[in-house]
Amino acid sequence: MSEPLILAIETSCDETAAAVLRGDREVLSDVVASQVSLHAEYGGVVPELACRAHVESVDPVVKEALAKAGVSLGDLTAIAATQGPGLVGALLVGLSYAKALAWSTGLPLVPVNHLEAHISAAFVEKEQPGGNERPFIGLVVSGGHTSLYLCEERSRYRLLGQTLDDAAGEAFDKVAKIMGLGYPGGVVIDKLAKEGDRKRFEFPRPMMKKSRYDFSFSGLKTALRTHVEKYPDGLSGKDLNDTCASFQEAVVEVLTVKAMRAVKDLGVRDLVVCGGVACNSRLRDKMAELCGKRGVSLVIPRPRYCTDNAVMVASAGLHRYEAGVRGAMDIQAVPTWPLEGLGGD
Ligand code: KG4
Ligand code: ZN
Repeated sequence: MSEPLILAIETSCDETAAAVLRGDREVLSDVVASQVSLHAEYGGVVPELACRAHVESVDPVVKEALAKAGVSLGDLTAIAATQGPGLVGALLVGLSYAKALAWSTGLPLVPVNHLEAHISAAFVEKEQPGGNERPFIGLVVSGGHTSLYLCEERSRYRLLGQTLDDAAGEAFDKVAKIMGLGYPGGVVIDKLAKEGDRKRFEFPRPMMKKSRYDFSFSGLKTALRTHVEKYPDGLSGKDLNDTCASFQEAVVEVLTVKAMRAVKDLGVRDLVVCGGVACNSRLRDKMAELCGKRGVSLVIPRPRYCTDNAVMVASAGLHRYEAGVRGAMDIQAVPTWPLEGLGGD
């Protein structure tokens, strides 16, 4: 039998994305229409604007994905779409579009959890995490989430800890805003930090000892704000670079320490780090260094598959399709959908 061909649609936040995946790892197309410029002047995602932009983009983006893959609707095995978590109006656009397409073609609809999709990005890469063979630790670090899971099987997740306030990506974005660096902030801080001294300023490492696996980034953000206030004319040059490097180091240290702690405590050999913040160059280097030292096999998807995209939705969708998951025509968008509620297959 030929390999399954999945069309996936992602509209949970501010990227309209569609992709076609053949089998586990053959990406035939990967289209992402980013709304970054639309939201930049507001310093964050404006839900109403995001929804409208999805409405305009979803049809051309899906058509482009099919055209680039060189496949027609009749070739597909199933249509996967993000059902949640995310902005309800944004989710509704992609899900409704996928429903209409599934209904008109008779293809199965496969609803996907966005967090599972971020983790599933790792299964598109050549190096594979434990998956069904052995459990692995999954760290999802994005604009909306900072959560640490024990992935007992590929689709059974146990939440170990999560942020009690801001997500790591949110902290990068807010701190960048405080320093007047624009939106989204993660990429800019990462770039400036490369020229900076990460030891120059001592920022707090929140919850490092207090809680084994939970995170908190709002205190760090406040410390950064107090630091910036010492520069009434604004930060620039070396001071700015050193601030970015020192702030980034604090976030990276907390994330790496907690992830490695989970690996050790639970006796697993595999770690997946995913979500937009997993693009961060210092986080990637530091995770690789620590995993190398401790013989842990690490998979961090390539940066394109860390930020929101539809390839990861296709990967999760394929897995769910094979497990027999199907979405009825009356399913709704689920803005809050914890991964551990998914259940195994
Ligand atoms: O996964 P994602 O695209 O969207 C959500 O599901 O939230 O993550 C977006 C987040 C933003 O907060 C952005 O600032 C952050 O990922 N980000 C980064 C980097 N690239 C993106 N944070 C730190 N360093 C980066 N290089
Ligand atoms: Zn995401």
